[in-house]
Amino acid sequence: MLPFDELRANGLFMLWSARAMLPFDEIRANGLFMLWSARAMLPFDELRANGLFMLWSARAMLLEVENLHVRYGNVEALHGVSLQVRQGEIVAILGANGAGKTTTLHAISGLLRPARGEIRFESRPIHQVPAHRLVAMGIAQAPEGRRIFATLTVRENLHLGAFAQRDPLRSARTLQWIHELFPVLAQRREQLAGTLSGGEQQMLAIGRALMAQPRILLLDEPSLGLAPLLVKTIFQTLWEINEAGVTIVLVEQNARAALKLAHRAYVMEVGRIVLEDRAAALLANPDVCNAYLGGQPAGE
Ligand SMILES: Nc1ncnc2c1ncn2[C@@H]1O[C@H](COP(=O)(O)OP(=O)(O)OP(=O)(O)O)[C@@H](O)[C@H]1O
Ligand SMILES: [Mg+2]
Repeated sequence: MLPFDELRANGLFMLWSARAMLPFDEIRANGLFMLWSARAMLPFDELRANGLFMLWSARAMLLEVENLHVRYGNVEALHGVSLQVRQGEIVAILGANGAGKTTTLHAISGLLRPARGEIRFESRPIHQVPAHRLVAMGIAQAPEGRRIFATLTVRENLHLGAFAQRDPLRSARTLQWIHELFPVLAQRREQLAGTLSGGEQQMLAIGRALMAQPRILLLDEPSLGLAPLLVKTIFQTLWEINEAGVTIVLVEQNARAALKLAHRAYVMEVGRIVLEDRAAALLANPDVCNAYLGGQPAGE
């Protein structure tokens, strides 16, 4: 049996009962997938009929970056970056200024073309696909520095995020969900986006990316310039977004907050991945604490 932490990191939850099974409704309400009984196993058909599937394998692979090289003119910024993101994960990319985090996200979202290497989304190569088509395929990015349209209202900014959506009913439901996640965006829907506070602009940038109904949400420094309390609120909301089924890749300089939220993380240094592990393991790693977490002991 895999260690419990590893199962959780792979999105698997195990329910063990030697004698009694929980009622199915309760199991499903708790989002549990694997059902294990030491004594009696229910017939597979019966499990399936009740909407339960037993998962022995890890979650499906969603995004694979392999040996990615990106150049700006003659200067190579990424020297062979490889990473993987599974369905439902929150994966953090950490590293100092200039490490190549934004460049990596831009290559994934189609804003930069790799010089070498491959990017696959659900096993399909996407590194030649234009950015707007990637949005329609389910890849949305909330860029660094927010990049909202300052002279448009909050409502208009959110509407633009749905440009690839054809079903107005689904878009209306998504908008309602975003208003539940960020009530301030509902209150200020007619306000010009440029007059929002920094935190509200960040919420708008995330909301606009969610309007595309992405399978995977790429976030570049969502905590930048925000007060600690607001960072906590936004990270809590990211967790809710992930719980709703959206896979998240999170680029952050606030390594501690990112590692508390993420399942796994990669650490970049000057265009390379130098470390990858489960987030909990990185938080407990003294070298990581000294280099990236200000030398503080893990766990406060
Ligand atoms: N448009 C550009 N033209 C030339 N060089 C660039 C360009 N954008 C980034 N670079 C260089 O590529 C390297 C990686 O930059 P990148 O923005 O990806 O880093 P980052 O990890 O996101 O840093 P930060 O934490 O400061 O946002 C840096 O050396 C940077 O100077
Ligand atoms: Mg950056």
